[in-house]
Amino acid sequence: MSVLAPTQIDDILAQVKKKAFEETANEPEPKLTGEVKWPVTAEIGRGLENAVTNETKVGYVNGAKGWLNYRGYDVFNLSQFSTFEETSYALLFGAMPTAQQLKEFNEKLAANRKIPAKIIEIMKMYPITETHPMISLSIGVSLLSTFDRTTETLTVEAETEVAIKLIAQMATLAAAVARIRSGKEPIEPDKDLSHAANFLYMLNGKKPDKGAERVMDICLVLHADHGMNASTFATMVTNSTLSDMYSSIVTGIGTLKGPLHGGANEQVVYQLEEIGNLDNVEPWYRASREAKKKVMGFGHRVYKSYDPRARILGPLVDIFTADPEIKRLYDIANKLNELVCAELGKEKKIFPNVDFYSGLVYKAMGIEIPMFSVIFAVSRISGWGGRVLEYLKDNRLFRPRAVYTGPMLAEYVPIEKR
Ligand code: CMC
Repeated sequence: MSVLAPTQIDDILAQVKKKAFEETANEPEPKLTGEVKWPVTAEIGRGLENAVTNETKVGYVNGAKGWLNYRGYDVFNLSQFSTFEETSYALLFGAMPTAQQLKEFNEKLAANRKIPAKIIEIMKMYPITETHPMISLSIGVSLLSTFDRTTETLTVEAETEVAIKLIAQMATLAAAVARIRSGKEPIEPDKDLSHAANFLYMLNGKKPDKGAERVMDICLVLHADHGMNASTFATMVTNSTLSDMYSSIVTGIGTLKGPLHGGANEQVVYQLEEIGNLDNVEPWYRASREAKKKVMGFGHRVYKSYDPRARILGPLVDIFTADPEIKRLYDIANKLNELVCAELGKEKKIFPNVDFYSGLVYKAMGIEIPMFSVIFAVSRISGWGGRVLEYLKDNRLFRPRAVYTGPMLAEYVPIEKR
């Protein structure tokens, strides 16, 4: 695997940003911004479509334009100029750090990377190869909680400490899961490497070059937060009961795993492999439309335009196309993208989402397919943490209602007479 120098990657990002802003400048202005007066009146669709859960300053998804921001900074700029560590700081603490704050935060993350050896021992005791890595990750996070007394008193300060530890340790857990699954010994974190470089080092056993480190860092930045998505909401629901940060993150991991959410990145690569060659793209697509199947990696509840993360990740795959296998899948992906955008884009505003190209980037970096949604979680922990902490400051239990459509006052019939 050889990738471009970081400066060439920056050029790609600058071009993508320019194109995105030019193309979407005239799209309608965003909704759901500014002050809220509770109670809010909204037309709520199935699956809580359009429901408003809370006020936030963490981040915003502009679905009409296809823009995404964290703490006011758009992701085009963050992926070009920031790092996962700096972005995570902003998500947790509300603003970009000063140089000194970032130095201290980086040191704290690096110092917290190690996980207890007992957790590795336990991971070797259950059938980890037959267990989805997201389940192993949630087992790992639950086990971490057993070694940590911090959340016995649930305060914003204590939860903040846990969020920082988890940002550091989820990468270590994830890499350990990947290595044990493939029969290799986990690798101890290296505190002198950046978060992205250390993650790749713990996964692959060798220190990455600057280009690969940069690509992984961009992936982590791009997945760190995304509005009130299903896993973020689930995480916040758990924490709103005043449970604890570890339990809340376990909820988030379980929710992210599903193929309609973070698990789609795995399904996309299986789908491209199933299509197999360029000539089969159109027949495969027609057959899937006929069967009313969803094309994985397309569509979004909020974006009715091109997902900005797909805009960035697409050209990043191009960097790896010296590898014939990646080139083959990338060509298939691009042709499928053209077909879907031309048809479903026009008819239903269905465009590629973050998961359409992310899997190809990870595959190109030598990561196994079942690990893709784990990488999503290794990044999303920052957004989960930031939003949970924000909500905890003025917590109110989440408790919606369902419309009951069953019978009332049914007569109880003894079992022998039913
Ligand atoms: N392929 C074909 N048709 C689609 C797709 C798709 N990927 N997505 C939505 N549609 C159609 C759907 O069939 C329905 O058509 P109709 O109105 O004729 O019945 C219409 O669009 C609305 O679909 P929906 O499922 O009600 O939309 P939603 O807002 O509930 O779903 C979604 C959003 C992401 C679950 C859905 O687009 C989907 O299942 N996509 C495929 C899975 C995927 O790529 N998920 C990753 C999401 S982005 C990353 C993340 O946040 O985790």
